[in-house]
Amino acid sequence: MASLYSKNVFLFDAFGTLFKTIPIDDELKKIAGSKSDLLLQIWRRKQLEYSWLRNQMKRYVPFDLITKEALFYAMKKCEIADNRILELLLPIYHQPVLNDGASDLILTLKKLGKQVGILSNGTLEMLRKGAAKTGLNTYLDFIISVDEIGIYKPAPEVYELAQQKTNANLSEILFFSSNQWDVSGASCFGFEVAWVNQYDETKEELPFGQVIEVKSLASAIDLLTA
Ligand code: LAC
Repeated sequence: MASLYSKNVFLFDAFGTLFKTIPIDDELKKIAGSKSDLLLQIWRRKQLEYSWLRNQMKRYVPFDLITKEALFYAMKKCEIADNRILELLLPIYHQPVLNDGASDLILTLKKLGKQVGILSNGTLEMLRKGAAKTGLNTYLDFIISVDEIGIYKPAPEVYELAQQKTNANLSEILFFSSNQWDVSGASCFGFEVAWVNQYDETKEELPFGQVIEVKSLASAIDLLTA
């Protein structure tokens, strides 16, 4: 497999890639019982749908609001009215937990002298809080939020913003995402992309550019040999 060593700028999607989006305790089960998994599925699906629909309608609102609105919808749909759900689930996006292998990969990249950053639909405040809480803040050269231009991924303007902010050539950038719609958008824009296929997903019928599939963030470390 191709070495990724030649790249200089390593950008990461945040939610679902660097940060986990699944609650780690079973508090949710105590409140939502057998509806827990459905609630989480609807929440994530609606959060993404709302971001894409708002892009189409040119009705941008920040990602923390979309995240809340999607959760309100999921709760209505699952007929759950308990507000403890909000207290339990919204912090996933404000005080996130690192995905497995994230810190090892980022430390390895920094030891190799590479530049590392986040490119996310999250607001700068969400991302800064997440970086501070997980300790990534000391290693990150860039935190790039779509909030600056009011357009969500996978619109090409977002990847263009990242290229401008990093001041790098397209060929120098490697973007990591576990979200296939993001992999499609970024690779069609012209980034080489590492698709972190941690849940063994079926490949979507979407257009893709240059994509390397890795099973986890940790396994990408093996591709960093010169
Ligand atoms: C991100 C989410 C939406 O951009 O994956 O961080």
